[in-house]
Amino acid sequence: MRSLLLQSLFPLLSITSFLSINVELSLSQDDLQYANCSEDINCGGIGGISYPFWGVNRANYCGLPGFEVKCVDNAPMINMSNINYRILKTNDSAPSVTVARQDYWETICPPTYVNTSINFFLFDYNSGLTNLTLYYECNTTIPEVLTSQVCSTNNGDISVWSITRSLPLDPVATGACKNKVIVPVFSTAALALEANTTTIQDAVDGGFELGLEINNVQCNSCVESGGKCGLNTTTGGFSCFCLDQAYATVCNATAPGAQGLVASTPFYYNLDSYLRV
Ligand SMILES: *[C@@H]1O[C@H](CO)[C@@H](O)[C@H](O)[C@H]1NC(C)=O
Ligand SMILES: *[C@@H]1O[C@H](CO)[C@@H](O)[C@H](O)[C@H]1NC(C)=O
Ligand SMILES: *[C@@H]1O[C@H](CO)[C@@H](O)[C@H](O)[C@H]1NC(C)=O
Ligand SMILES: *[C@@H]1O[C@H](CO)[C@@H](O)[C@H](O)[C@H]1NC(C)=O
Ligand SMILES: *[C@@H]1O[C@H](CO)[C@@H](O)[C@H](O)[C@H]1NC(C)=O
Ligand SMILES: *[C@@H]1O[C@H](CO)[C@@H](O)[C@H](O)[C@H]1NC(C)=O
Ligand SMILES: *[C@@H]1O[C@H](CO)[C@@H](O)[C@H](O)[C@H]1NC(C)=O
Ligand SMILES: *[C@@H]1O[C@H](CO)[C@@H](O)[C@H](O)[C@H]1NC(C)=O
Ligand SMILES: *[C@@H]1O[C@H](CO)[C@@H](O)[C@H](O)[C@H]1NC(C)=O
Repeated sequence: MRSLLLQSLFPLLSITSFLSINVELSLSQDDLQYANCSEDINCGGIGGISYPFWGVNRANYCGLPGFEVKCVDNAPMINMSNINYRILKTNDSAPSVTVARQDYWETICPPTYVNTSINFFLFDYNSGLTNLTLYYECNTTIPEVLTSQVCSTNNGDISVWSITRSLPLDPVATGACKNKVIVPVFSTAALALEANTTTIQDAVDGGFELGLEINNVQCNSCVESGGKCGLNTTTGGFSCFCLDQAYATVCNATAPGAQGLVASTPFYYNLDSYLRV
């Protein structure tokens, strides 16, 4: 049954491949930009990373400066102030990204202590977050301490205390602890930590959500018109990549070529749906 169907479709198949070869040959620079920015970044099982992010398989014109993503050891990363932040998920409609500190991934005693520092030109802290302060190598017991843990490192055992509220006296200033690092966590994770139903590690690895400081209205209009959001690398302004060309705001649905494949090769789509049966 299936081979019969394929046989009867064979002439159609060759027409389709002929058509698609022609289409590929006629791809212009603008089509390439549209095609390139149509692809999301997919790294280590985290997919759907798109505008304003670029990098890996997305050209720099598919995103905005500062939003470069690298696929490092099979995880998508953003590098900010010399720290890698691991992307856990993105939400295009918010728009937001949930990240965790890579230096804290699977350890709460990284080799060097660095505070979380966000580039506020690109991101902002979303609501629903709590600052978790981690104190290292303290030699007195902090009364407000919630959870403590010991890390085994190359430099011996290190004790870590985590606190979700601010202390009246800074234990580092008083000399009771050697270091402190501030890491935002979801407030739900902070509450779970207070209730002793999660670990410092799991709270930190759960990451935190950052809002993206971008004009989402502009990008949504472009997408609704059938385009892909991007950057005009000449002017640094917004660019909406469409099937026929790049526009400054939205696609022109009535311009020649704007409908691309859909209008000129209806067979292609019909055949595709037959073959899926
Ligand atoms: C998009 O552009 C990037 C960078 O130039 C390139 O590595 C990638 O292969 C391109 N992808 C497609 C589908 O053309
Ligand atoms: C982040 O980028 C800076 C400069 O490009 C580089 O020196 C640093 O090693 C990067 N950090 C990580 C963790 O990859
Ligand atoms: C994405 O963000 C929107 C707006 O903040 C929210 O309503 C929605 O639930 C979020 N989606 C996911 C999957 O978290
Ligand atoms: C982190 O920031 C706090 C104040 O915001 C500061 O006291 C502390 O020394 C910083 N820690 C590191 C490791 O820079
Ligand atoms: C956490 O601390 C940073 C400064 O280190 C501050 O900008 C941010 O607003 C604080 N977040 C919360 C939820 O208190
Ligand atoms: C520990 O206690 C001693 C003596 O009270 C003090 O000199 C030192 O600064 C304290 N702090 C640390 C981090 O060792
Ligand atoms: C938290 O839970 C752990 C094990 O689940 C237990 O050993 C520890 O005593 C608890 N700590 C507090 C402060 O309740
Ligand atoms: C970039 O902007 C210039 C000036 O407005 C325009 O001529 C050019 O076509 C634009 N290119 C893209 C890719 O949007
Ligand atoms: C859209 O394209 C048509 C056909 O080329 C043209 O007449 C019209 O002016 C264009 N509209 C816009 C807003 O660019």
